[in-house]
Amino acid sequence: MKPVQLKEGIYWIGGIDWDLRDFHGYVTQRGSTYNAYLIIDEKITLIDTVKCYLYDEMLARLSTIIDSSKIDYVISNHVEMDHSGSLPMIMEHCPNATVFTSPNGEKGLKAHYEKDWSFHVVQSGDTISLGKRTIQFLLAPMVHWPDNMLSYCPEEKILFSNDAFGQHIASSQRFDDEYPLNIALEEAKKYYANIVMPYGKQVQKVLEAAATLDIEMIATSHGLIWRSYIAEIVEQYKHWSKNDASESQALIIYDSMWHSTTKIAYAIQDSFENLGIHPIMYNLQKNHISDIMTLVLTAKYICVGCPTLNGSILPSVAGFLAYMVGLAPKGRIGLAFGSYGWSGQSVDMVQESLTKCGFKLMDQIKIKYIPNEETLKEITNKVQENILQIKEEL
Ligand code: FEO
Repeated sequence: MKPVQLKEGIYWIGGIDWDLRDFHGYVTQRGSTYNAYLIIDEKITLIDTVKCYLYDEMLARLSTIIDSSKIDYVISNHVEMDHSGSLPMIMEHCPNATVFTSPNGEKGLKAHYEKDWSFHVVQSGDTISLGKRTIQFLLAPMVHWPDNMLSYCPEEKILFSNDAFGQHIASSQRFDDEYPLNIALEEAKKYYANIVMPYGKQVQKVLEAAATLDIEMIATSHGLIWRSYIAEIVEQYKHWSKNDASESQALIIYDSMWHSTTKIAYAIQDSFENLGIHPIMYNLQKNHISDIMTLVLTAKYICVGCPTLNGSILPSVAGFLAYMVGLAPKGRIGLAFGSYGWSGQSVDMVQESLTKCGFKLMDQIKIKYIPNEETLKEITNKVQENILQIKEEL
């Protein structure tokens, strides 16, 4: 339970959630951390807290540095309970501490905890003095909730970014250069795809503002702290926030009852392969929707297949579509496909969801019962021609 010093007098005192495997529907196969920070200055300052069940762990780390009753300032960058969950407990130790937060942060904290703490509401550009250091605030609404803000310490060149640039990784290593970079970037991509994707425009505003700051460290609220690969993660955020899908990747996402929709899926795979477009097959019985979303972030073609079940679609496909529509990828090319026995509503229902995403649509593929070899060849040819036609139109 040791704290980790970021710079002289600035400590990570967060909690490591080794067992976390689900974050509201997102599979967190590597666990996570909730990063809280303590600044020792004339004003003892705590930045964010941890989920309530890791409060003792945070307090144990904090207590090796200072008595918790000595905290003067608490900066709450985000109301969501993975960061504010231990606030009521820590405030019992320092009831007179001032809580700095955004206007929506004040509303959210009051609604969550019904406490009459001494709030100091801040706006973008406001600064406070801690003594030797200052903290400058930058409101970042919708990265990830309306209340989000970032806090910047110019003397130490540290940006406390909260959810932005985070990754769900539980690790005893705290910094990006202590951990495999490819895994850190992959988890950052999964985090962006599943948490931040709907808010690309807001992310771009944060990136513009951050570009004016001299940053030596991005102290996130989840996972690793960026200090050696800041340029790399910022570059990825620039790319992801543009919804800039790669032309060379196609996802074929499907579920099947008696393998007919699977056969169609593999016939469509051939269409992409024949054109040198890299297809990736995702059977929804075998893959989690949050892993699929990681590649939806960068794939141009999103093909979704489902047979008709009771005049509707399979729950696995319905769940994926609901999740994807909410995360709002844009600028993709969609294809709905599937087999049916008699009523055949599923393909239209899939197509409706792809339309909600605003995708440009290819001609749907709807096959009665079992496609034979000849039909499968026709599907491959038809989809191939359709891809070429759409590429010409773009
Ligand atoms: Fe990590 Fe939006 O909370």
